[in-house]
Amino acid sequence: MASFQSAKEEIKRAADIVEIIGQVVQLKKAGKNYVGLCPFHSEKDPSFTVNQERQSFHCFGCKKGGDVFSFWTEYHGATFPEAVRDLAERYHIDITKDSYESGDNNKAIQRKELFKINEKAAAYFEAILENPVKGKLGRDYLKRRSLSSEVISQFRLGYAADEWDGLTGFLRRNNVDLDMAVQAGVIVPNDRGSYYDRFRGRIIFTILDQRQKVVGFGGRVLDDSLPKYLNTPETPLFHKGEFLYGLNSSFSAIREKNRAVIVEGYMDCLALKNHGLKEVVATLGTALTARHVRKLKGYASEAVVVFDSDEAGKAAALRSLPVFSNEGLSAKVVILPNGYDPDAFVNAKGLNSFLDLLNRASPIFEHYLDQKLTKETLDIEAKARILKEIVPAISDLNSHPQSSLYVKLISERLGIKEEIIWSELGSYKSSQSKNAIGSDLIQTQGLGVSKTGKTLSDTQLLNLLAHHPHAIPSIIDIEGELLISDPVVMEIVDTIFEKYRQEGINSCNRIEESLKNETARIHFREVLTGPSFYSENEVEQAIEEIRAKACQKKISESLTSFKRAKGDAEALNQLLKLKRLNRS
Ligand code: UTP
Ligand code: MN
Repeated sequence: MASFQSAKEEIKRAADIVEIIGQVVQLKKAGKNYVGLCPFHSEKDPSFTVNQERQSFHCFGCKKGGDVFSFWTEYHGATFPEAVRDLAERYHIDITKDSYESGDNNKAIQRKELFKINEKAAAYFEAILENPVKGKLGRDYLKRRSLSSEVISQFRLGYAADEWDGLTGFLRRNNVDLDMAVQAGVIVPNDRGSYYDRFRGRIIFTILDQRQKVVGFGGRVLDDSLPKYLNTPETPLFHKGEFLYGLNSSFSAIREKNRAVIVEGYMDCLALKNHGLKEVVATLGTALTARHVRKLKGYASEAVVVFDSDEAGKAAALRSLPVFSNEGLSAKVVILPNGYDPDAFVNAKGLNSFLDLLNRASPIFEHYLDQKLTKETLDIEAKARILKEIVPAISDLNSHPQSSLYVKLISERLGIKEEIIWSELGSYKSSQSKNAIGSDLIQTQGLGVSKTGKTLSDTQLLNLLAHHPHAIPSIIDIEGELLISDPVVMEIVDTIFEKYRQEGINSCNRIEESLKNETARIHFREVLTGPSFYSENEVEQAIEEIRAKACQKKISESLTSFKRAKGDAEALNQLLKLKRLNRS
């Protein structure tokens, strides 16, 4: 048996950080590191890096990092001694109880006690459900809900009989510290200095974390009384808003299928499991949060959210769009037929009908547009308002190849020019964006909105030149390739510059006729006809911005070619310094 200290050393020798992290974060090899999406902060481009040689991880975005123990404590919200014990168990390293406890601090002791009490309570509820007399009502209820005995035991369902002193008495007989049991949330103190059971006359849903430890409970009444569900309150072990019910049993299937199906309720999750759908989790009735999504994207690259057809369900679908796009998890939406929730649907129509719905799910953005644009005729104000609402949701899609498609879609559906949408996006983004140099290094695309179609800077530059020709002399020396990715815009800008060099500012009225290409002529006309993005006193600033972008792009490009050429470290430092200076 190992002491705490030597167990730590042994774990370090036995554990591989790439394997441990790789089970909850999708890692890709990149040079001598592995990279993935950080599980600790919102990001769409990987800046979370794991180094096998040093057995360490670091996130260039949120700066969290450390060894295998730091990862475990951070990811599972566990204490350090808990991490040592978890990992020791995992690698079959024996530690003596005494030496394990010598590493405990107060928080660790408390958490350990709470876990123990939860485990005892779970076993108690399971036993009551099996009890021929006390469990009958519960068993009958679960039969009516069609759950198999396999699902019942796998998910550790239980029953709390309708009595005040069931669990309380059991814990007391087992010498459990009842004040601790109050902290675990399973019993409640009364005015007379005694305690009573929190869950009475309810089916018990045991809530297990990804390590299969009991963090809390949900309890459902057997009839129509309220509240329908009662949950463990917030405790040091249970945070309802970030918990995904069922993930403990679903994560391998989610990884295998590369998709997670997200439903709202305990029963929805279990009914689908009961019919054989493995990759499903439930949010327990709370809105979908970034933390939920961050967990899931460690296992899959797509989620399908299933919402009820009621207004609340539709609203929830809309609200979840930015959450997904912020985390870079692609998402689809299923809206169930009227009157069904997933549990009712799968029990009535079977798994195949449910799988059909999943396979026909629409991408969340299209669904979002459909919902926003139901009214046929929109006045200008309504259009502007909708655009304002949509922009934050799509601004995060900018690195996504579909973004220009989306802008096109909005443009068609709203009857607003694409340029205006890009411009709205641009101002929204510039009010939001602060990039970390680390993620820039990985994402050398620079200005890119999308490889095809017009980028934000294409549109901005052209708009500026068309509407404010006196800006031309301040921009004419920039290499067009740095800012422009669209060949049509390139032709127009080249022509503007050429005419300016030949004939000066007055040439600007005759650009259109000098354009050889029909598409270019049409596009230039559209830009001239459309609104200017910049008022007269914003022109200076626009020039500044465009020059800064060009400079930044140039540095990025040198950096990329430098990396290709494997140049010396000194030159790299110079470049990075330049890049930083350019930002500040
Ligand atoms: P629903 O009201 O949709 O219930 O709540 P349900 O899942 O369909 O349950 P059944 O089929 O009637 O048994 C969805 C989820 O919201 C949470 C629960 O997690 C529930 O599964 N909820 C609901 C509560 O926490 N408290 C409540 O009172 C109601
Ligand atoms: Mn239901």
